[in-house]
Amino acid sequence: MWFLGIESSCDETGVAVVHLRPDGTVQLVGAALHSQVTMHHDYGGVVPELASRDHIRRVLPLTEAALSEAGVTLHAIDAVAYTRGPGLAGALLVGAGVASAMAMALGVPALGVHHLEGHLLSPFLSTDPPEFPFVALLVSGGHTQLMRVDGVGRYTLLGETIDDAAGEAFDKSAKLLGLGYPGGPALSRLAQQGDPTAFALPRPLLHSGDLDFSFAGLKTAVLTQVRKLGPQLQARRADLAAATEAAIVDVLAHKAGQAMRATGLARLVVAGGVGANSRLRAQLNARAQREGWRVHYPELALCTDNGAMIALAAAMRWQAGGWPAQGDGGAFDVRPRWSLHAIDPAGAADGGVQPG
Ligand code: KG4
Ligand code: ZN
Repeated sequence: MWFLGIESSCDETGVAVVHLRPDGTVQLVGAALHSQVTMHHDYGGVVPELASRDHIRRVLPLTEAALSEAGVTLHAIDAVAYTRGPGLAGALLVGAGVASAMAMALGVPALGVHHLEGHLLSPFLSTDPPEFPFVALLVSGGHTQLMRVDGVGRYTLLGETIDDAAGEAFDKSAKLLGLGYPGGPALSRLAQQGDPTAFALPRPLLHSGDLDFSFAGLKTAVLTQVRKLGPQLQARRADLAAATEAAIVDVLAHKAGQAMRATGLARLVVAGGVGANSRLRAQLNARAQREGWRVHYPELALCTDNGAMIALAAAMRWQAGGWPAQGDGGAFDVRPRWSLHAIDPAGAADGGVQPG
């Protein structure tokens, strides 16, 4: 079976084609991506209305590019998947509308995928795919969660952030350092020239005993240092970037290790944009070796938002036991707020929908 996947929840338009082979493996055969980062750069963050309009402009050319790379036409597609949520409502509507129209025209199902489930399953497209069960550390711009994953759709929340997400902590600190948007990769690059011990920044909730996170206080601590440094900030920017990155990474790695001990599982999967961070990867790899568990990552290109993870999640869910009826007669909806840990194992995509 051939699945087309469309991602449009935030500031990336991603379209991809995956092939679910008869032996149950999933292969990525075509992918195209457009990032809106330069468009939003001047505003210091994502402007939702601009994002929606750009998704409209990009989605069809990207679909053609993905199909062409896959070497198939639209008529070969057996199901069209799209990101149903969580994300920006207008941006989600573009992908959902286009996918549902395409599916209806082709006479195939339209499948609404949870964005975080896409991230969570993305390491299955890597050369070193994990096996269930595992612990997942989901670290994106909007989410920071530790989940126990027993199979497709079988997710138990172990802990999550009580305020800012890890990616948000990177982005907000980067902004304070004058690094623009999105700041995570820029802060990480600058940090390589700095001394991570140069500033003593807090590691919030490090010893709280539970698996929750809090990053709002860290941002305040960075702001305090920026103010204290005043005109000297420029000379100390790399050190402050390194200290900030170390604080975020220390907490993520410590809590991930704690989750491994608490569950007794042997595998950790890291997914979401912050999973691209090299300090986080180095620290998790070292800890895994020390503590006797394994860590799996998506390919670097699949850490941040993309269409491949949406097509993959649809294919894996399909394989795990079908799909709830949705999109009947071309009708569709989106879920701007939608919690992953409560979705129904059977794939009842309406389970776990949060009000609002
Ligand atoms: O998963 P993602 O692409 O989008 C969301 O679903 O949110 O994650 C984006 C986040 C941003 O906060 C970005 O700054 C962060 O991931 N990020 C990084 C790195 N690459 C992306 N943070 C730290 N180091 C990186 N190398
Ligand atoms: Zn994402």
